Amino acid sequence: YYDPLTVLSLMYGDGPAARDNISVSDSEEKRDSIGVKRLSDARDEYTQIKPYAGMPKEVLVLYSSKARYRVPREILFWLTVCCTLALVAVTIAVIALSPKCLSWWQASPVYQIYPRSFKDSDGDGVGDLKGIKEKLDHFEYLNIKSIWISPFYRSPMKDFGYDVEDFRDIDPLFGTMKDFEELLATMHSKGLRLIMDFIPNHTSDRHRWFNLSRTRDPHYEDYYVWTDCKPDGPKPNNWVSIFGNSSWTYDEVRGQCYLHQFLKEQPDLNFRNPDVINEMIDIIHFWLDKGVDGFRMDAVKHMLEAPHMRDEPQVDPNKPPELVTTEWDLHSDYTTSQVGLHDILREFRAQMDIYSQEPGRYRFMVIESYDYEEVYKTMMYYGTKLEKEGDFPFNFYLLDLPQNTSGAWAKHLVHLWMGNMPKGKWPNWVVGNHDRTRISSSAGQLYVRAINMLLLTLPGTATTYYGEEIGMENINVTANPQRSPLQWNANMNAGFNDKTNLTWLPLHPDYETVNVEAQMKDDGSVLAQYRFLNTLRQSELPLNRGWFCYVHTDANVFSYIRELDGLKRAFLIVVNFGKESVVTDLSSVRELPDELKVLMSTNKVNDGKVFPKSRIQTEVGEGLVIQYSTNTRFNPNHPEECYISEKACYLETIGILYKCQ
Ligand code: GLC
Repeated sequence: YYDPLTVLSLMYGDGPAARDNISVSDSEEKRDSIGVKRLSDARDEYTQIKPYAGMPKEVLVLYSSKARYRVPREILFWLTVCCTLALVAVTIAVIALSPKCLSWWQASPVYQIYPRSFKDSDGDGVGDLKGIKEKLDHFEYLNIKSIWISPFYRSPMKDFGYDVEDFRDIDPLFGTMKDFEELLATMHSKGLRLIMDFIPNHTSDRHRWFNLSRTRDPHYEDYYVWTDCKPDGPKPNNWVSIFGNSSWTYDEVRGQCYLHQFLKEQPDLNFRNPDVINEMIDIIHFWLDKGVDGFRMDAVKHMLEAPHMRDEPQVDPNKPPELVTTEWDLHSDYTTSQVGLHDILREFRAQMDIYSQEPGRYRFMVIESYDYEEVYKTMMYYGTKLEKEGDFPFNFYLLDLPQNTSGAWAKHLVHLWMGNMPKGKWPNWVVGNHDRTRISSSAGQLYVRAINMLLLTLPGTATTYYGEEIGMENINVTANPQRSPLQWNANMNAGFNDKTNLTWLPLHPDYETVNVEAQMKDDGSVLAQYRFLNTLRQSELPLNRGWFCYVHTDANVFSYIRELDGLKRAFLIVVNFGKESVVTDLSSVRELPDELKVLMSTNKVNDGKVFPKSRIQTEVGEGLVIQYSTNTRFNPNHPEECYISEKACYLETIGILYKCQ
């Protein structure tokens, strides 16, 4: 080891440093004192020397300690540290404070395809996967990104696919696994997401598991809910199926009764058996591995039953037991929503979350459960702060709108959800599906546009059942009147099947005028208005994630505001669900400007009309979207009337910025 001063002196002179070097080893003390001396000598010396290329490290060190090099270096060092810290702080602040983007299942409506009825590519009269692939442009046109396809598993079709024979296969009626994979790949390449139906409660009686269970294969013996009964004797208890009559059927092979909460061809799986849960998790993995983006969990409230199997209490205790045949006759205390159900669903969710870790591949879970007045039961499917469950349970309350079309009723139904939803959760709205009469038929054509407007201007995710975007109606048949083929054009079979004359259900006779092609050409059509509203919703922050505030409700009109802190642009929606044309006076709403210009009316002639806020006119079934500009937001003065989802990123910071403007 040589100290740098020694090296320097050895290299650049034979003066005192070189000479003294010989005696350095003599004593420590001497070396120290000589060392001090050398330092000053060397400093004197090296200031004479100009820096040169290839200086040894030791010489460099001497130069670098000179103030002219050291000070800028230190300044640079601290500057870098400060900048890095500032950058980290800014990044954290931006992440924490800036508006979060909505996830895909929040940003777009969910469109339900009933695959039998969407598009038939091979001419057998039943829609199929290739047909769906042919028609994906429809979603681009509508600006819809999330597609839920009702079941296409292999099935004997007793319940049109909700009776699954093989959860890992496609029914030949709909195509092949290759067709599915091609459909999914094409959807993904177009930025579309595919949501599948997942049916955990039951299988088909043709499922391999059921055959093994009825023959008492040791592994499968307890896969279903079996109990002793006699072939012609009384049923094990008074439980009834959703489709009517006893939910017990005697099986000759096993000599016992099995439970079926739906058709007798749909035996209920036994979720008290952990092997069944694991089987279902494997199936979830199977489809997630294929790349599906989410599941609609079918009929989940029926998954568990009380093990004691006691009779359920009758709604009317005086009704003779033999007349107890429908779900409405019993309090379904032992066959639905049993303790343990949410644990199973949360486990399903946890499995989906593993797949959601892949960036940009969030897997979505929506729950189907009809709990009618017991809204708190539905809300439990949102999970808790600590444990996630569904992203949302379907909100079916608006299906009841036709019972009493009026402004007050619409608000009541909307508030059933908004007033009960756990804080910070994301709402959703359903106005039709394959199990319910089309709302256009029950409420009447007059209200179709207004209902679509409601759906697309409320906060949260809208679900649109195929055909609602063109105002399709029920057909006149006793079963499945809401499942008729989608009306694409005025040609043969409405373009649903252009190869043969087969359609599995008759077409609605109005298809010559009510069809996609005709409505694309008419900018006042139900379709054009749906498209306009959906596009508006996605491009306008107040509509896609802003505050929602009730403004005015009466027998006819339901009216609300959508606004976002920090934005001057806001929207007033006024929908007349009543039975008469009315003039609505909103002059007491001081946050609204005096004049209100209609951005869009469901009654096209009123587009662009200007109303004084004291006289807003609407016809029966007319809805108005009014865009206005304001510096005074409505929500701070009416917190009780307003709602915003935390997920929708309400930020105090933006509020502060707004006040500082
Ligand atoms: C769901 C489906 C319905 C089906 C039932 C049994 O409610 O929407 O169509 O019959 O579950 O799977």
